[in-house]
This record gives sequence, C-alpha cells and structure tokens, in this order.
Amino acid sequence: MSSQSIPFNKPCLAGRELLYLAEAIMRGHAAGDGAFTRKCHTFFEERFAVRRALLTTSCTHALEMSALLLNIAPGDEVIFPSFTFVSTVNAFILRGATPVFADVRPDTLNLDESILPSLITPRTRAIVPVHYAGVGCEMDAIMSIAETAGIPVIEDNAHGLFASYKGKALGTFGCMATQSFHETKNVICGEGGALLINDPQYIERAEIIREKGTNRARFFRGQVDKYSWVDVGSSYLPSDLLAAYLFAQLESCDTIQEKRKSIWTRYNAGLADWAQNEGIRVPTVPGHCDQAYHMFYLLLPSLADRTAFIQHLKDRGIQSVFHYLPLHLSEMGRKFGGRDGQCPVTESISDQLVRLPFFNDLTESEQGAVIEAARSFRVGANAPLAISA
Ligand SMILES: Cc1ncc(COP(=O)(O)O)c(C=O)c1O
Repeated sequence: MSSQSIPFNKPCLAGRELLYLAEAIMRGHAAGDGAFTRKCHTFFEERFAVRRALLTTSCTHALEMSALLLNIAPGDEVIFPSFTFVSTVNAFILRGATPVFADVRPDTLNLDESILPSLITPRTRAIVPVHYAGVGCEMDAIMSIAETAGIPVIEDNAHGLFASYKGKALGTFGCMATQSFHETKNVICGEGGALLINDPQYIERAEIIREKGTNRARFFRGQVDKYSWVDVGSSYLPSDLLAAYLFAQLESCDTIQEKRKSIWTRYNAGLADWAQNEGIRVPTVPGHCDQAYHMFYLLLPSLADRTAFIQHLKDRGIQSVFHYLPLHLSEMGRKFGGRDGQCPVTESISDQLVRLPFFNDLTESEQGAVIEAARSFRVGANAPLAISA
C-alpha cells in the first residue's frame, strides 16, 4: 500500500472471506476445483447465462487458454487495441501470432470499430476487444464485422464484470471472454481470473487445457474410468482457497457495485464543471452502455498538465496513476513493426489519462478530499518548464 494517506487502490473485504477461507481449509480440499470453485462457476453460469465458466489463476491465463483453444499458430494475425494491458497481446504472441494494433475511439477509448475492416486480412484469426474502464465496446458493429469475416471474438472483460451493452452482459458476446479478480478489480481474490465460454464447441477442450492436458474433469464426472494425457495444457486452475475468497466477494457483488456506483457518480458530479472549465475530460459512457463502475479517469489537455496534476495530488497526500502506454510503440510493439503515428488517438490519450483513487471502501470524506484537491488544480499554472517523456 502507498505511504500516501489516500492510496489509488486498497483491497477491500466484503464480509465472509475469512470465514470461507477457514471453511475451505478445514474441508481439506486446498487444490483446485473444490466446492468453492464450483460455487463460483455456478454463479457466473447462472448470472450471465454463459455456457461454461472456469476459474483460472489470472485473466492473463484465461487469455492464454483462449489462444490455445483457437489453435493460434505462427503466421496468424490477431487484432487488438494498442491501448490495453500487455497480457491481452502476450497471450497470443506466446503462440506465435503477429499482433495487429488498432487505434481506439476518442470517446470511450475502446477499439475503434470503424477501422476494423481495414485491418482484417486472410490471416486474421481473432479479434480481441477490451471493454476499457468497464464501458462496452461497440459490440453490434464488432460482432457483425467479425461474423461476416468468420473471425472469432474474444472479449477481454478484465474491467467489465457486471456491465452491459444494449442490455446484454459484457462477456457474453464473443465465443469466449476473460475476467480478472486481481486486487485492483471490482471483485477480487488477490490474483485470479475466469474464462467464460459462450460457444459450447470449446468447453471440453478448455477443461482439458486447464488441467494439464488431461481429461481429469471427465474422470471426476464419471465419464471415463481413468484420466490421462489427451492434449496440450497447463495448470490454469486456482486453489479452492482463492475461490473461497472470491465467492465471498461474488456473494456481495450487488453491495460492491452499489458502493462503486456511488463513488463514480460522486466523482462525476463533483468534478464535471471544474473539468469543463479547465478543458479536462471526464469519462464518456454512451447511453446504451451500463458500465461496471471500475474506474474514474480524467483526460488532461497535455502530458505536462497530467504530470503536474499527479504531483499536485501527491503534494496533498493523494495517489493518482496513469495507465497503459501504447503497445505498438513499446520495445516489443516496435519489433512487430509498430511506428509513431500508427494509432494517433492511443498515442495522445495515453499521455493525458490519469486515474483517481477508486476502491470499495473509499469513504465520502476521503473522496471529498480528492475532489477538493483536484478542483484546486489549474491547467497550465503548474506545468513544469521541461518534461521528459
Ligand atoms: C485489460 C486487461 N486485460 C488483462 C489483464 C490481466 O489481468 P490479470 O492480472 O488478472 O492477469 C489486465 C490487468 O489489469 C487488464 O487491464
């Protein structure tokens, strides 16, 4: 945790975590796929009507599973937004794919669906939209472009649990979707994730890949009399102790989401007029998107302003943080041909974006202090003379 008095993030308990952890330990099933894992699977399958939910050790690993399930191989191209976390892309690069970076929309900062058709080639094997900040990508357009071209869509829904697009839950559009329960997310277990499978053709092989390439899941269901090595795989299932922690959070998800909605709404109401006067942007949430209330960010006019703003809050004991750097301009991205000017929106917003403290137990008085500190900032007034990128 930061030494500052108001940290950017703090893992918060929902209530029954310790109780369920003790129960999981006492039950004597500490490995994966115990009773709490099954409860978590049922939660996702019932709440979102996904065909199969599988807990994983992280969202990164759920993404890796999706790349294995699609048989991604060298020479294949996969389309991603450049404005995302490295795991979105790494999972596919590990299988030898070539990343094709798309720019994002200037309003929601989500993959710009209007440029998607120009990025599709005969080698395109997957499209991986990311619902940034838990606000849905334009899924009607993305799904229609992907379906016309016969390309599977994997939703990286690390931020978007409980959000929806035109009334349909994020994570239920693509053939698969991935979730994160890392301690910075809305519901957490420290490190954890899930693969949500909507297309049933992937279910059986997903169970195998997650269990070291064995048909252990079939064995436990009594469908085979012994289990053996049948495919490639790895160990992607978390301990039932982590599932116990997660289940306590899932059980309280409505309370958690209510708290986060209040925090987001308070930031928006407390900062909108100041932001407008200063030429600062608050998040755009289209009317057809019910967001996840995952984060609250501001877009400052320039990198110099953002640097000064982060320092301004830091001087007042408040931690604020920027987010993704454009992946196409990273050392790895450039090895894949990434060049300056390729994704102009990503390149500019990545310098401008700052995230404010946002966690379930952020108190009204702490949030009041953040709002007051932000409002005392004047664009241009504190900008350092020289900025190094
Ligand atoms: C969009 C996105 N995808 C994937 C991940 C990876 O999640 P995890 O830490 O659970 O592997 C993150 C991490 O924050 C993320 O922001």
